Amino acid sequence: MRRPIIAGNWKMNMTREEAENLILDLIPKVVDAECDVVICPPACFLETAGRLIKKTNIRLGCQNVHWADKGAFTGEISAAMLKSLNVEYAIIGHSERRQYFGETDELVNSKVIKALQNGITPIICVGESLDQRRAGETDEWVRSQVRGALKGLSAFEVQSLVIAYEPIWAIGTGVTATSEQAGETIGVIRTAVKELFDEFTADKIRIQYGGSMNPGNAKELMSMPGIDGGLIGGASLKADDFAAVVLYSK
Ligand code: 13P
Repeated sequence: MRRPIIAGNWKMNMTREEAENLILDLIPKVVDAECDVVICPPACFLETAGRLIKKTNIRLGCQNVHWADKGAFTGEISAAMLKSLNVEYAIIGHSERRQYFGETDELVNSKVIKALQNGITPIICVGESLDQRRAGETDEWVRSQVRGALKGLSAFEVQSLVIAYEPIWAIGTGVTATSEQAGETIGVIRTAVKELFDEFTADKIRIQYGGSMNPGNAKELMSMPGIDGGLIGGASLKADDFAAVVLYSK
């Protein structure tokens, strides 16, 4: 049985005070969660967030990580630095990073490797554009993103990580993939993992859905057998909404 994982990707939102209030509001609302609960605040609030969620069932994640150990990379943050702040998860290859910061599958792969080397669990994002879906290219596209992201990893490493299927057209648009669409493409991703590694690995890896997931649609999406939770954007900025999604997880 895979344990569901619900992660909140705050993106570039919140001031420090707002972040503190959100976390303090959230803590009592998710104490009874039967899944892994992760918040991914902006990097500048990781330390504060880490302090507030210490001794709770909420885990800390970041939104990006650099691929090098250290050095002359102004503005960047290394996996070792994140690890020293008790970061346990790293969102890698989000479509916004791919779109606005030119992240390629190769770069995503080096970031995944660096996170794993530092004991941080990658949450690798894949997903197609609306044009690609309309052209019937979704399956091949996500397969190639999965192949690229997991290149050179061992089956053991892959078993521990998380993939988030986030159709670009569903992110921040209020348009959600239907549970059938999400379930089908997540099935394609799991089959790709099986073909690249083995059935055991495909059974172990957790695959989330992300894209306009909210309390109104979370239950149905998460009732699909292959969907192991969600990567939540907008709805993770409100304690009540995020907690409601968390409590819907199987
Ligand atoms: P929304 O939930 O705001 O659509 O964002 C999804 C997302 O990109 C999570 O990483």
